[in-house]
Amino acid sequence: MRSSGGLPSAATFGENEVTEVERVIVSIHRVAVIGGDGIGPAVTAEAVRVVRATGIDLAVTEFELGAARYLRDGFVLDDATLSELSQFDAILLGAIGPAIGDSRIPSGLLERGLLLKLRFGLDLYINFRPFRGVPKSLAEGCEFAIVRENTEGPYAGEGGVLRLGTPHEVATQGSVNTRFGVERCVRYAFEKALSWPRPKVTLVHKTNVLTFAGDLWKRVVDQVATEYPSVEVDYQHVDAACIYLVEDPARYGIIVTDNLFGDILSDLAGAVTGGIGYAASANLNPTRVHASLFEPVHGAAHDIVGKNLANPLAAINSACLMLDHVGEFAAATRIRAAVADFDGDVAVIGTAGVADELIRRL
Ligand code: IPM
Ligand code: MN
Repeated sequence: MRSSGGLPSAATFGENEVTEVERVIVSIHRVAVIGGDGIGPAVTAEAVRVVRATGIDLAVTEFELGAARYLRDGFVLDDATLSELSQFDAILLGAIGPAIGDSRIPSGLLERGLLLKLRFGLDLYINFRPFRGVPKSLAEGCEFAIVRENTEGPYAGEGGVLRLGTPHEVATQGSVNTRFGVERCVRYAFEKALSWPRPKVTLVHKTNVLTFAGDLWKRVVDQVATEYPSVEVDYQHVDAACIYLVEDPARYGIIVTDNLFGDILSDLAGAVTGGIGYAASANLNPTRVHASLFEPVHGAAHDIVGKNLANPLAAINSACLMLDHVGEFAAATRIRAAVADFDGDVAVIGTAGVADELIRRL
């Protein structure tokens, strides 16, 4: 940028000037924002504000989706809206879901009809969840990530009921694991490990009981590992991993695991590394055929709505993952540095106060 105003001098009206014009054009990113329910709209608004404060131009289109929208007009998500969302550079989502105990919305209707429809419909087959913090069990900080398969496993929806409501009722819920789905997830984990502080991939599964699915995952990891000789490889049963995550999380680099194990482990990992209020996630379509979606790991937290207590840091960290995805690494690094520096208390300064404090430190 020129520091002085006025017309460019002949000397600057050359190559540099064209580069500057190009830079301005490429830094406009078209982002769909789904604030959603509970604290979702408040934390995404702060995330957008912090990103804009770095000079990044976000062209935001708001989509009103979630429990409130469903209760108003019955709309969840149709194919036309899904295709529209697919065209954006990225989607930033706050949280989806009714308050606990709200019986007006059947359990799973929004989760399956909205969030999973987005994940499956946009083929967001990676759920990347990085964790960084100083766990109680360690004197020093640790940095690891969960690469969660995001379109298969028990989430795929295989199963059904027979003789509903009778004493002979049957309910099945299968886990779908395709060679294709497992392999693309495992490959992503190894690629990620190459540039991770600790170049190590740990498969977490339950191969001693889930012998069919576990065997497929284990064979794929062993096979893909041969192509990455510089990456250390490990395996743990999911129950043992729960102990290690609490007692020695520094042993991990990248954890690769199926959809359900990844869901459960990421709440534990969030709690261990400073609280779920910081945990971010990227639902990625690495092929970039569809827009990717960025959201905090936490939920709608209806109990603290309107109390100015929602921590926007998970949404802000998710926005950093979005900036990585669209190639704005410098802006992401600046925000991450401000977050690392931040020592305020949301209970004292409030939701917008946290964002103000970060913007001051940018
Ligand atoms: C998450 C959430 C979702 C999931 C729910 C809301 C469907 O817990 O993103 O971790 O289970 O994946
Ligand atoms: Mn979860």
